[in-house]
Amino acid sequence: MQGHQSPDYKTPLKKLVINGGYPLSGSVRISGSKNAALPMMTASILSDHDIILNGIPDLADVRTMIALLNSMGMYTKKNHNDSFTFNASGINSKFASYELVKTMRASIMVLGPLLAKHGEAKVSLPGGCAIGARPVDLHIQGLEKLGATIEIKDGYILASSDRLIGSTYSFPKKSVTGTANILMAATLAEGETKILNAACEPEIAQLGELLNSMGAKIQGLGKDCITIEGVENLGGAEIEIIPDRIEAITMVIAGIITRGELRIENINSSHMQQPIELIRKCGAKLEVFEDYLYLKGSDLISPISFQTNPYPGIPTDIQAQLMVLNTVAEGDSKVKETIFENRFMHILELKRMGANIGIDGNTAIITGVQKLNSAQVMATDLRASAALILAGLIADGETIIDRIYHLDRGYESIEEKLSNIGAKVRRID
Ligand code: EPZ
Repeated sequence: MQGHQSPDYKTPLKKLVINGGYPLSGSVRISGSKNAALPMMTASILSDHDIILNGIPDLADVRTMIALLNSMGMYTKKNHNDSFTFNASGINSKFASYELVKTMRASIMVLGPLLAKHGEAKVSLPGGCAIGARPVDLHIQGLEKLGATIEIKDGYILASSDRLIGSTYSFPKKSVTGTANILMAATLAEGETKILNAACEPEIAQLGELLNSMGAKIQGLGKDCITIEGVENLGGAEIEIIPDRIEAITMVIAGIITRGELRIENINSSHMQQPIELIRKCGAKLEVFEDYLYLKGSDLISPISFQTNPYPGIPTDIQAQLMVLNTVAEGDSKVKETIFENRFMHILELKRMGANIGIDGNTAIITGVQKLNSAQVMATDLRASAALILAGLIADGETIIDRIYHLDRGYESIEEKLSNIGAKVRRID
């Protein structure tokens, strides 16, 4: 995508139709990680040289981020099927409009780089979203700690700074994109910055890897304490984006609950150790290697209770998908969501499909049932829509999922991937 095309937000609400009851079998290849690609795209703002990202997934959120960067004057070029070049030497605007930011809150990650490279930024507040208020107060606090002057006016963050000065910032709670913003800003700050209680997600570790290959001086990536020695400027770099661990686990669960047999290619199994250990407890056979895994579902699915946690714990982004597995397990289970305050909206839709789930605050209590029934359901957020697909794969009859634009934000060609391994799924307007 070259120049200043904006994504088409006017696409009609599309629906997915799934005929359930077919075991999945065959081989499926996982795409590059959305949550690794997005911060690395914003990191290109920090340099005047080419940043080449290989393995970028073809997603609505990626197209939105490209449109946002293009609107600032970023040069973006699609090299070959999943490789893009970004060059920020021509950036002439430090403005991220509400129009773009409201559709994708990850846009907030242009704030740190714009501030560090250009000394100013005007970025719309993302506003809440379905799964929670999702404020950005910690992003702002961290940047102020680095010496930025930040004012909130008319729904926008107005940030300025002559030169950011290294400091120590301790996150009161772990924030993935918050860590990304402070990490990127610190690379060009004067002196040393320490980020305490930093997010340890692999996507943030890879962001740091890219920054170091651009000439940054970062230590402690993947750990709670990250140290950054500021430099004068950053050069170009090229990197292969890590596989999407959330998509991978979603496919593992699809294979298990349909009692299928799958080979899942292009994974990094070291990024999903705890989810794999947890899923093994349901009785499925999982043979895990470094960059692929083989699974065979079992007739009897044992329930798996868990709570979500920051990495390396069980990711909140697979909570809804794991809950579907529990809805048809033999027995009771408990699921506790500790990251977001409202990430149980999929429960109402699953109950309409016959699931037996009760809610007590941020804990869901699930009693397994024999079968789910097909129904017309509605996606509410990205990962909940994936959970509804999983439910449709095992429900008797035809399930219709509405508002799947949520799904297109984070899953590349999901119906092709599922159809190629035996699912009966199609898209309708
Ligand atoms: C990232 O969102 C991911 N998005 C989310 O994935 C993921 O669910 C989330 O991390 C948690 O793992 C991207 O990486 C683009 P947080 P992020 O800041 O960074 C609170 C998906 O499905 N908080 O780690 O926005 C916040 O409300 C998406 O791909 C503050 O209070 O999440 C939440 O309760 C959905 N103030 C908790 O911290 C702040 O300034 C963790 O949020 C920032 C966050």
